[in-house]
Amino acid sequence: MMKNNNFWQEYKKKKQVILALAPLAGFTDSTFRSLVKDYGADVVYSEMASVAALYYGGSKRDGALETKELLKFKKKERPYVVQIFGSLPQHFAQAARIITQEIKPDGLDINFGCPVPKIIKQGAGSALMLDLKRARAVIEAVLENTNLPVSIKIRARVKNVSALEFVKYMSDLPIAALMIHGRSFKQGFSGAVNHALVKEVRPFFSGLILTNGGINSFTQAHKALEISQADGLGLGRGALGRPWLFQEIKEGKEINLSSLDILGIILKQAQIFVAQKGEKSLPDLRKHLVWYVQGFPQASKLRAQLVAINSLADIEKIINNYKEENYDTLD
Ligand SMILES: Cc1cc2nc3c(=O)[nH]c(=O)nc-3n(C[C@H](O)[C@H](O)[C@H](O)COP(=O)(O)O)c2cc1C
Repeated sequence: MMKNNNFWQEYKKKKQVILALAPLAGFTDSTFRSLVKDYGADVVYSEMASVAALYYGGSKRDGALETKELLKFKKKERPYVVQIFGSLPQHFAQAARIITQEIKPDGLDINFGCPVPKIIKQGAGSALMLDLKRARAVIEAVLENTNLPVSIKIRARVKNVSALEFVKYMSDLPIAALMIHGRSFKQGFSGAVNHALVKEVRPFFSGLILTNGGINSFTQAHKALEISQADGLGLGRGALGRPWLFQEIKEGKEINLSSLDILGIILKQAQIFVAQKGEKSLPDLRKHLVWYVQGFPQASKLRAQLVAINSLADIEKIINNYKEENYDTLD
């Protein structure tokens, strides 16, 4: 299908390092994506969305509606990339059509990296990276059914299939961007990250390449860029409880926020969340909030309070109590 405006290429022309919020199921919702935009994120990815849920929209209507709800976004999040996961090319084809027509994001990304057993069992995520033929059919199905730029996210290796072999197998396809999580399937989510892989893969890939994994500070970001010579970075858990990591990397310096500044950011995220989803959904935000208070004086007490919040008033009360109790030590 004829491609629309490819926003990835705009970045390439500007020769600007792209800072992307990597997809994190359960975390990269519209609120968090908006928040990181305020701190300088260039591109944001949705949580992964099931193509099967969209495909079976008729018989499993709730699943499709829920998925569309999950993918809604605000203008300020643009460029916004929707990530999809699944196993069958026909599901991907239908999902690509639905998302392109109804959600209207700026790009579509295909998940080839998720190692979670529930996903692997469906033949999706990392299991799809292992099956080169089917993976190729999936990419072709998406390319044929959208005019949006299509990107992919892969791992350094899944069993006997390396990132290099995978990319070589797809090298003639017009894929706009590639994010490599430089850990193998076996490593899961911890251990050393191979950022140098980007250089190996580069001769076989015509689009932009982002390196991802273990980037939690501006120093690590600069190291990853130096080693990989990538066009950009995908920030995952490093941005949780630290959305200002994007600003730190852009400015090349650490930003030391006081405990009170950070509590203020918690309140801001909660206010955006409530405006979008209503106060009754606030318990869904608890898992986000605990990331912010690591290293705080009395962190465990604060964490216990934050995992019990039900309202904005609860958060305001926690902040006020914290101020009173730490009056002498607050900076
Ligand atoms: C809680 C959680 C959810 C994730 N969800 C997704 C997802 O939906 N799609 C995806 O491609 N990767 C997902 N990932 C992988 C991240 O995008 C990223 O590749 C990985 O966490 C490594 O980056 P990091 O070390 O900066 O976190 C997830 C990781 C975590 C920890």
